[in-house]
Amino acid sequence: MFHYSNQDLYCENVPLADIARQAGTPAYVYSSAIILENYRAYDEALGALPHTVCYAVKANSSLGILALLAKAGAGFDIVSGGELYRVMRAGGDPAKVVFSGVGKTAGEVDYALESGIHMFNCESEPELALIDALAARRGVKAGFAIRVNPDVDASTHPYISTGLREHKFGIDIADAEAVYERARDLPNLTAEGVSCHIGSQLMDTNPILEATERVLALVERLRAKGFAIGQIDLGGGLGVAYQAHEQAPEIRGFVAQVRARLEGRGLRVTIEPGRSIVGRAGVLLTRVLYRKKSAEKEFVVVDAAMNDLIRPSLYRSHHEIIPLRKTGRPEIVADVVGPVCETGDFLARGRNMANAAPGDYLAVETAGAYGFVQSSNYNSRPRAPEILVEGDTFRTIRARETYADLVRGEVK
Ligand code: LLP
Repeated sequence: MFHYSNQDLYCENVPLADIARQAGTPAYVYSSAIILENYRAYDEALGALPHTVCYAVKANSSLGILALLAKAGAGFDIVSGGELYRVMRAGGDPAKVVFSGVGKTAGEVDYALESGIHMFNCESEPELALIDALAARRGVKAGFAIRVNPDVDASTHPYISTGLREHKFGIDIADAEAVYERARDLPNLTAEGVSCHIGSQLMDTNPILEATERVLALVERLRAKGFAIGQIDLGGGLGVAYQAHEQAPEIRGFVAQVRARLEGRGLRVTIEPGRSIVGRAGVLLTRVLYRKKSAEKEFVVVDAAMNDLIRPSLYRSHHEIIPLRKTGRPEIVADVVGPVCETGDFLARGRNMANAAPGDYLAVETAGAYGFVQSSNYNSRPRAPEILVEGDTFRTIRARETYADLVRGEVK
């Protein structure tokens, strides 16, 4: 959906330079068609198997994106009260919301109970006790799944790998049965499912399939003990290609493998994909401010910085950077850096790239997931606008912040 026509880069049918000129830069631009295509790939591949695709809100929580997915029938995986608020504001169905996270507060749990969410994915016994107590106060029964830690190695970046015994997430699968047993004493809880999530940006799906097998075995053991486990939540984690040569798992093929394991077991399946739905649907547009050369290096100074997209600085992640207009000029090798006062402020290092001149626009690719949501006002930089492209048209789904926004809520 992002493609060159003649020399110009388009998102769907809109030249990105038109958006850059109208909205200014830096700016995030998303393709609604890519988002819907990815969502439908999950939904259709799960087919007749009872399922809910709960989009992981943390990947991109813009109301416009959530509304798009809600209309398409998606459920949502949330990790905070704020995310629940966004889902409700976007018109999402609370009955299709699962609440994950290792540190849910009483206020957040109560808000979720009040909203009538589908299920809590619980990560500790004190959390189960808290949900039970708050459900009692409201006179309701809360459905829960225990997020188990299946102890499989997701082989991804250490900051986003979550399924090993040493990680803070979930309850060791070996201890899970005992925890379900003890939870029988909590009268306002119903054990409905088992959940897991082993990490993010997984380029190999075998660890997820291995985790699925382990969770299924646990489901059978629990059923043998009389628990009416009817649901399994496999989390998210499917990776996307950040570099041209990378081969990301294909959604439909992956889901077919999951489905083959779940067919005929009387289970409703939930999955929580984030990155694989929105990652490749977004770019960050930026403009070249200056070119600068030192004895050692060539720098392309752009108007987007680590506050706009922190992934390169935080995870050393690679995002392709391509020009909005191709020129015939030979490529250069350069560091692409922003205006923030830190050496760690870079979008790319030692990159073979277009010979971009001051005033030229560039697109930082695969920025739809964990891009805007991880942006900040560091260096008192107003956050970028977010723009949604729909076919021939585009609209602003989040306005560029103003200087007044920067000090909102502050007093002197
Ligand atoms: N479910 C749970 C419980 C999660 O913790 C996550 C992501 C997801 C689902 C969605 O995973 P996905 O399908 O997007 O891989 N900021 C990092 C990524 C952090 C992921 C955290 N958990 C990054 O920029 O790469």
